[in-house]
Amino acid sequence: MDVHQRPRKGEELLRVEDLTVQFPVTSAVLRRQLGRVLAVDGINLQLAAGETLGLVGESGCGKSTTGLALLRLIEPTAGRILFHGHDLTTLNKSALRTLRREMQIVLQDPFSSLDPRMTVRAIIAEPLKVHGIEKGKARTRRVNDLLELVGLHPEHASRYPHEFSGGQRQRISIARALALDPQLLVLDEPVSALDVSIQAQIVNLLQRLQDELSLAYLFIAHDLSVIKHICDRVAVMYLGRIVETGTPQQVYHQPTHPYTQALLSAVPIPDPTQRGTKQRIALTGDVPSPQDPPSGCRFRTRCWKAQQRCADETPELIDRYNHGHPSACHFAARR
Ligand SMILES: Nc1ncnc2c1ncn2[C@@H]1O[C@H](COP(=O)(O)OP(=O)(O)O)[C@@H](O)[C@H]1O
Ligand code: SF4
Ligand SMILES: [Mg+2]
Repeated sequence: MDVHQRPRKGEELLRVEDLTVQFPVTSAVLRRQLGRVLAVDGINLQLAAGETLGLVGESGCGKSTTGLALLRLIEPTAGRILFHGHDLTTLNKSALRTLRREMQIVLQDPFSSLDPRMTVRAIIAEPLKVHGIEKGKARTRRVNDLLELVGLHPEHASRYPHEFSGGQRQRISIARALALDPQLLVLDEPVSALDVSIQAQIVNLLQRLQDELSLAYLFIAHDLSVIKHICDRVAVMYLGRIVETGTPQQVYHQPTHPYTQALLSAVPIPDPTQRGTKQRIALTGDVPSPQDPPSGCRFRTRCWKAQQRCADETPELIDRYNHGHPSACHFAARR
């Protein structure tokens, strides 16, 4: 199959099977490996063309590592990443380069992700240059079109990143990510570093671009409120594992995993008439270290429902009640 050919909306674009990423922990003094960080521990994900999958969890749970490993910007330790059915983990450099045109990433921090010494034109044109696409006037036109696409003026092209606000810089990052006309964007907390008033503007821009360009998004966020209205499906991650997946309706209104329930009870409820009707579940304690995660269920050290079985047996992510709503808890609530 031609990887540059766009699948129809709803057809499978990306499939991740048992993705695992471990980082070695080494001692410079002893010059040996002391252990390993289990950053991503055997996760499965699917993403269809034109769809948005939200990946949510607290800081340090492995979201960025997942996003970077999907593009092989970090080498996976194990697992398969199938894009259009091609396993990215086995591709050689030149085949991977061709495929990279179709998958791009937008990072959280628009201040550090743009080179301060480059003009906006040079930043946005860089991917075109690297892939030898369009030259001279055609390239200038393409950069101007991309600037307009993200709501900036072509006159901005000769300026430098420091002349822009956070929201505008994130628009520049998005224009750069779109330069090669990709099919998939990994959005790694694209609005977390922005003022709340700007966040909605960028989310709206991303939604408009998705409709116009038939993009698929893996939208990473550390809290559930940001992605509520943009996702087709949500995956909740805890300490390197996916603990619950479903539609926003299922995950937000009928969460079955205690961790999702706790995350949701931390989200402020905007409707004052609903305040106080929900039982608040406080997440106590810190996330354990991924160097030495708890046995069995990784959430058990913070779970109010934990029993002996939770320490002895690892709960699988399974769809117990056939609702298309898998949960990795021995005692997942029936909904
Ligand atoms: N290059 C690295 N070397 C060692 N540990 C890392 C590296 N990158 C990330 N980690 C660790 O992996 C875990 C997951 O990190 P990350 O994927 O950045 O989480 P998130 O994006 O959810 O905040 C964290 O414990 C982090 O400290
Ligand atoms: S398996 Fe046990 S510890 Fe894990 S979430 Fe379910 S009840 Fe809590
Ligand atoms: Mg991160």
